[in-house]
Amino acid sequence: MVSIQATSKKYRGRKAETYDEIRTRQQRWTLENKAVEQMLDGMQGRTVLDCPVGTGRFLSLYWRMGMLPTGADISDEMLALARKKLRGPEQRRLTTLAHVSATELALACSENVLLSRKGYDVAVCVRFLDLIDEEAMRRVMIQLFQVTRERVILTIRLGDEYVPKSNTATHDRLAFNRLVKSRGWCVEESRPIFDAGWTVMQLGRKK
Ligand SMILES: C[S@@+](CC[C@H](N)C(=O)[O-])C[C@H]1O[C@@H](n2cnc3c(N)ncnc32)[C@H](O)[C@@H]1O
Repeated sequence: MVSIQATSKKYRGRKAETYDEIRTRQQRWTLENKAVEQMLDGMQGRTVLDCPVGTGRFLSLYWRMGMLPTGADISDEMLALARKKLRGPEQRRLTTLAHVSATELALACSENVLLSRKGYDVAVCVRFLDLIDEEAMRRVMIQLFQVTRERVILTIRLGDEYVPKSNTATHDRLAFNRLVKSRGWCVEESRPIFDAGWTVMQLGRKK
């Protein structure tokens, strides 16, 4: 069984150091990058909250799109690796990297300490929801909905197609859809990657 407590402590030391090296070789990594880039279409110049930002995987994409990124993560080591990707004063000026938990985004925004009081146009949450338990996934989704105005892009595993391993989870599809709807959002696009329930999703406000 996965838990948010275990995942919050996991990305340290060697796990952080070797993170990019191992994952950038995966086909899933490339497919996710492509899907996220396409789902960001139309968001040029907008503010984006990437949580968890990890090693700053999407930072170069945000800068290329003229977006204003804020990355939040609980691991100082992952944040330090993301910080290393900032090149020059312009990228430093445009980018905020903050030690904030995904379960405390709304608080961090309301206190305006690390995150923007005004919230964000877009939120990106990739490779996280399948690493936390169902209850934590709901808490994180609610936080993302609270601090985002227009679009949430996420990855998740839903349904029974996937047999969870000790370090990954799959979430209840119906319960997830109900949660999205009850918060005034809808699934605008859902892109399966391979056939084991792994999906990149774009959510928008219900019209
Ligand atoms: C698999 S990585 C994903 C990083 C990035 N989104 C990517 O696609 O490469 C999971 C990340 O979640 C972060 N994390 C774990 N628990 C967290 C929490 N409670 N709040 C914010 N970040 C957390 C870890 O530090 C790690 O950087």
